[in-house]
Parts: sequence; structure tokens; C-alpha cells
Amino acid sequence: MSNAEMLKRQAAARALEHVRSGMKLGLGTGSTAKHFVELLAERVAEGLEVVGVPTSEATRLQAESLNVPLGTLDDYPALDLCVDGADEVGPDLTLIKGGGGALLREKIVASAAAQMIVIADASKHVETLGAFPLPIEVVDFGVAAIRRGIEKAARAAGCHGLLALRRGADGHVFVTDQGHLILDAAFGVIPDAAALAASLANVPGVVEHGLFINLANRVILAGADGVTVLDR
Ligand code: 5RP
Repeated sequence: MSNAEMLKRQAAARALEHVRSGMKLGLGTGSTAKHFVELLAERVAEGLEVVGVPTSEATRLQAESLNVPLGTLDDYPALDLCVDGADEVGPDLTLIKGGGGALLREKIVASAAAQMIVIADASKHVETLGAFPLPIEVVDFGVAAIRRGIEKAARAAGCHGLLALRRGADGHVFVTDQGHLILDAAFGVIPDAAALAASLANVPGVVEHGLFINLANRVILAGADGVTVLDR
């Protein structure tokens, strides 16, 4: 396992310490969340009784293949804990998420959880959000007009940058689990995440964006010098 993967696994292992039998768990998406699901499956095999609610089809397939009991958010609308990764962790534990394209389900699941723990390698911790392009999920109608609306809304929040329609490795336009498209907004710097979030929420055609504000309660960062825990 590479050093980067070892760090992700360390963060995931620390998050697992918060899991108790009987919990209903939101299961995140991405390479770090994947480690968490693997470690969780080991505990389930030993007798831990939990139900997972996956945030993507990829996580659902992984968890199913590892025999982690699953339910839907309709079955369990109030979760105890959600464990997920992040693309950036900024001040006040505001996050950029959606690098894996699952931001909509991730935000719904995190919002349904009493607690959200974010797991990441320490490189994700930043002083100012925005170096990672902000994923914005949009409907697949009138994308050029939606893009203009986003640009205008972003300017009002002091953000400028190119918006790229996300494509998969095969070159085809990326379609989310909910059947939407993603515009990745390369702002470089997001001076006021709350202002940008409020502005984007008013753009017709924007389904959701990857700014997670006041959702993460705890962030577990694994770096070369050990594990750091940040609380909000
Ligand atoms: C998926 C996400 C992921 O949590 C985020 O992209 C981090 O992924 P990784 O753990 O692979 O770095 O938001 O939509």
C-alpha cells in the first residue's frame, strides 16, 4: 500500500473507533471512505451490528460485496453518524466535497446524521478553500445558461474562474448517480464560503454544490507526523 493510502487508512481506522453496535451509519464515497468501509466490514464480520446508508452506487456496491448490512435513507431517515472524505478542509471545518461526483447524496446523508466525521490525509487541510475546483451539480437542461448564472452568482461572492463540464476517464460527459451533470468551478480562492453558498443556491438549474458548511463535527487528518483531530 502506498504511503498516501496508509494515511487514509489510518484516518479511517480512527473514525471506526466512534462506531458502536446498533448505529445507523452514513457511508461516504471516495478512496478514503473506501478504507473505512473495508475496516467496517472486518468489524461486521466479527459481530458488530450496524446498518449502512451508502452515499453512492459505488459505495453501495463495495459495501454489498463486503456483506455490510445496508438500508436506504427512507428506511433510516435519522442516522447516528456519517463518515466521509473531503477534497478540502478549511476554516470552521467547512469542506469542499464532490471530487468523486457524489456531493448531492453525500450532503443529504450528512444532513440526516447526528454527527459527521470527515477522514482525510493531512494534505487536504487548507487555510483558504478554493484551490480544489468546486463541484457544482446542475440539471442537464440549458447548461450554458446555468453556467452564466453560476458565473454571475460567483462574482457577487467575490469568486472568479473557469467552469469546466466534468467528463469521465472515457471522455464522455460525467453523469451523477442522480442523473445530473457537474460543473467544476476553478475559483482558486473562495473568500467567503457562506456568501458563495447562498449565492449559488439562487441559481435556477443548480441542484447542489460541494460546499459543506456546518456539517462536519470532527475531522480526522492523518499525516507523516501522526493523526490530528479537529473539532467544530
Ligand atoms: C466524493 C467526495 C470524496 O469524499 C472526496 O472527493 C474525497 O475523495 P478521496 O478520499 O478519494 O480523496 O466528496 O464525492
